[in-house]
Amino acid sequence: MGTPEGRGTKRMNGKNSPFLSHLDATAKDVDELLDRLLSPTAASGELSRPARLIEAMRYSSLGGGKRFRPFLIVESAALFQVPRLHGLLAGAALECVHCYSLVHDDLPAMDNDELRRGQPTAHRKFDEATAILAGDGLLTFAFDILSRRETHPDPAIRIELVGALARAAGLGGMVGGQMLDLAAEGRFSGNGPQRLGEKEVRMLQAMKTGALLRFACEAGGMLGAATPQQRKALERYGSAVGQAFQIADDLLDLEGDPALVGKSTGKDAVAGKATMVGVLGGAGAKARLKELVSEAEQALAPFGSGAAILIEGAHFVADRHM
Ligand code: IPE
Ligand code: IPE
Ligand code: MG
Ligand code: MG
Ligand code: MG
Repeated sequence: MGTPEGRGTKRMNGKNSPFLSHLDATAKDVDELLDRLLSPTAASGELSRPARLIEAMRYSSLGGGKRFRPFLIVESAALFQVPRLHGLLAGAALECVHCYSLVHDDLPAMDNDELRRGQPTAHRKFDEATAILAGDGLLTFAFDILSRRETHPDPAIRIELVGALARAAGLGGMVGGQMLDLAAEGRFSGNGPQRLGEKEVRMLQAMKTGALLRFACEAGGMLGAATPQQRKALERYGSAVGQAFQIADDLLDLEGDPALVGKSTGKDAVAGKATMVGVLGGAGAKARLKELVSEAEQALAPFGSGAAILIEGAHFVADRHM
């Protein structure tokens, strides 16, 4: 399976942007790795890889995402001269969790979406049960990848990555945030949308989206055995970029071009989703994005010019059209 046609970065036509060429290179390398790791042949310790399941897992993970999370791992690890393959494998693992979160997010029981990355969502392409299992398979596979020696020779670092990803993805991170997101729609109370305040929406978004993006930045520091101060700086950057990422996604739902974003737009307000656009309005959300980009820039000051690509990454998040 080659590089998917639909990758958004191609449409950005950023031939002269170092950021876009780094993002594209990471995307290509992650695609190749996932293509190899998710081959139809059973790995040692596995009994077999059922054809429909591996097909759905490949469909959901090789379908042309931006691969921004792996980019964050690779580039934050590069601050510490970590061999590129380590960052890419950790990035592939994180992308498995991210793609699983999208497959489940799109299910009829969740956001009930029919389009993802310009293609039918997994449950439309296959069926609901297969989509649920493909998500489960991708989530589990992430930890398989992180536990492998090729991801990092030091087992203590591998365990640190496993623990941090579990916490970012689970109860107190992405999954918890998804629960708050659905609860805010008023699903479980029958009293309509909850009308959350800014602080509550911030927490919800820090969990459902921010946690995985923050993990990406922290993982670079783990792979590179960063000092506590360096880790703090990456955590601060990741937290700002994570917040900005979901606010930009909410703005894209409000005013994005569905052909570029590859998913249906205009759905959040109808569903009664708690978003920063809902709390601050479109102009207020854009102003907040600017603040977050400058927060991200300040956080990376200790790394000097070495962090230029990551800083460009923060600008990309705020200005993105896909
Ligand atoms: C979409 O994530 C879901 C959110 C967490 C906002 P991305 O915008 O990174 O989706 P892909 O992977 O590029 O398709
Ligand atoms: C998704 O938030 C966050 C996840 C954990 C998947 P959204 O529901 O806004 O993401 P999209 O807009 O469907 O990609
Ligand atoms: Mg959702
Ligand atoms: Mg959704
Ligand atoms: Mg959205």
